[in-house]
Amino acid sequence: MAEPAAHGRLTAMRQPASSDPRKQLVESGYDRIAERYLAWAAAIDDPGRARMLDLLLERLPRSGDVLDLGCGAGVPSTVRLAERHRVTGVDISQEQLRLARERLPEAELVHADLASVEFPDASFDGVTCFYALGHLPREQLGAVFRSVGGWLRPGGWFLTSLACGDQADASDEWLGVEMHFSGYGPDRNRELLREAGFRIDVDEVVPLHEPEGTVTFHWLIATPAAED
Ligand SMILES: C[S@@+](CC[C@H](N)C(=O)[O-])C[C@H]1O[C@@H](n2cnc3c(N)ncnc32)[C@H](O)[C@@H]1O
Repeated sequence: MAEPAAHGRLTAMRQPASSDPRKQLVESGYDRIAERYLAWAAAIDDPGRARMLDLLLERLPRSGDVLDLGCGAGVPSTVRLAERHRVTGVDISQEQLRLARERLPEAELVHADLASVEFPDASFDGVTCFYALGHLPREQLGAVFRSVGGWLRPGGWFLTSLACGDQADASDEWLGVEMHFSGYGPDRNRELLREAGFRIDVDEVVPLHEPEGTVTFHWLIATPAAED
């Protein structure tokens, strides 16, 4: 049975913990590596992230509500969003949210699976999801895009970074834990976003430099297409 999350401005419906072993792998993995992930992420050279966030901020109103899916510990993008927006963060890992609470004292933080959390329609001016959807079983991506389209207010914007590799569910050792990865390539990412009713405004494959080497992500900024 879904329960309303302890939440101030908006009532998020938090679903029970997932029984999907792929989600459990992500949750337990991120709980265990919370501090390690923060240190590792700080060592990444990722100019694309800041540039894409700039492009989103140009499109958003000066204030308003932003939802960050898979917010993790909240740095650096969520903290920047919180400088001018009311931020709601969702993450499947309690440990990540514990770290986020230190950096985002004003934010509403919801412990939930982003694929099953519920918000009222038209709750947000912007929705972001940085580097989290590569952990989602890829067959759930289209439904998540449709949910995001419903949560956005008219004229709202969605920013996300998606996996570039076409990979069905895989479990790999990553940062010392077993982690789940899944994704489509850019063609299918675009197709799913359009099928969910979005118009794509920014569409770039961007490299970033991790300590282990260079990887690419598919960045998209999109808005619900106006109805004819
Ligand atoms: C690579 S980290 C990115 C964290 C942060 N967005 C950033 O940019 O640094 C991925 C985050 O997504 C969260 N996550 C993965 N799958 C999720 C799901 N199904 N629901 C909610 N959070 C999820 C993880 O717990 C983790 O905090």
